[in-house]
Amino acid sequence: MSLAHRQPLTENSFLRYLCGMNGLSEKIESLKKEIDAFSIQNTQELESYRIHFLGTKGLVKSLMGEMKQVPAEDKRAAGQLLNEFKVFAEAKYDLAKDGLENNETQDNETDWSLPGNEIATGSRHPISLMRNRIIEIFQRLGFSVADGPEIEDDWHNFTALNLPEDHPARDMQDTFYIQQEPAILLRTHTSNVQIREMKKGKLPIRMIMPGRVYRNETISARSHCFFHQVEGLYIDEQVSFADLKQTLYFFVKEMFGQNVKVRFRPSYFPFTEPSAEMDISCMLCDSKGCSVCKKTGWLEILGCGMVHPKVLENCGLDSNKYSGFAFGMGIERPTMLKYGIKDIRLFSENDIRFLQQFTGAY
Ligand code: DAH
Repeated sequence: MSLAHRQPLTENSFLRYLCGMNGLSEKIESLKKEIDAFSIQNTQELESYRIHFLGTKGLVKSLMGEMKQVPAEDKRAAGQLLNEFKVFAEAKYDLAKDGLENNETQDNETDWSLPGNEIATGSRHPISLMRNRIIEIFQRLGFSVADGPEIEDDWHNFTALNLPEDHPARDMQDTFYIQQEPAILLRTHTSNVQIREMKKGKLPIRMIMPGRVYRNETISARSHCFFHQVEGLYIDEQVSFADLKQTLYFFVKEMFGQNVKVRFRPSYFPFTEPSAEMDISCMLCDSKGCSVCKKTGWLEILGCGMVHPKVLENCGLDSNKYSGFAFGMGIERPTMLKYGIKDIRLFSENDIRFLQQFTGAY
């Protein structure tokens, strides 16, 4: 039954609202608005709020006190309303109190409008930049990228490449041995990946194989005991030396500019026949001759040739049916040329001042 039809029980203003549950809820709504509007910016205001609403003589308590005068059948509903109101009033107090306490522990000296600390961004290593450029150019010609192990056995690094034990050409590629008999070593070139890919027998092969290689060399400004190479391999029916030349012409023009001149010099590698070394015109002195090109006007950039039939056979490929070309180039030298780096040791010293110069470089 609604309280609306009852007589007021006392003069207390509260009872006017209790004349009906509707009246009570209206009163509570308006008190809630009053609470919402109550601004608590400091501890004094917090205390006034507490006294006004939650204190022993506060509104919540006095409303509660009137409960005893509510008829029994309405007690439950009125109690619920008042309880909710109490929780509402207390929540605002707790929230404001927490806020003020946190503020007190904050450092008010800090100027929050200052710009934040810069987040350090890394940079690509110049060797990676150059490797990625090489990959990108060959990918445009349809070459894919293959990878192989740096710790290699003797067969893949030497014997299969037509460099049998006691072959004098092995002398030029002395390396570090992990184990003797059977010999496990740090690969001296990326040519081992040629063998691994050919042995898979999936033809045609059109791949480039970048990676790190090792040699037992004295470390100086020009040579190191580890460096990087990119190997190239193209095996199919009827691949000719003309294909080799056109592929490499395209590469150097994309890499060093359309005006670069190229020359092939006959050379010797046990795994190719015929073999050649490819030079490009020195861009530092415009082919006039400088200390970098040793006054020749030419810079040697890679070795190449037609894959030796014996190498094809070592990998189980029919050398009467298939032919192909291969090439191998170092990454350090063209990188040094491109960025004017004078000492190869800088690449691996991890000097942040050196590395930071390549932030944003392409
Ligand atoms: N592997 C040779 C080296 O490290 C470079 C090389 C020359 C690779 C001729 C080749 C090639 O694939 O055909 O000196």
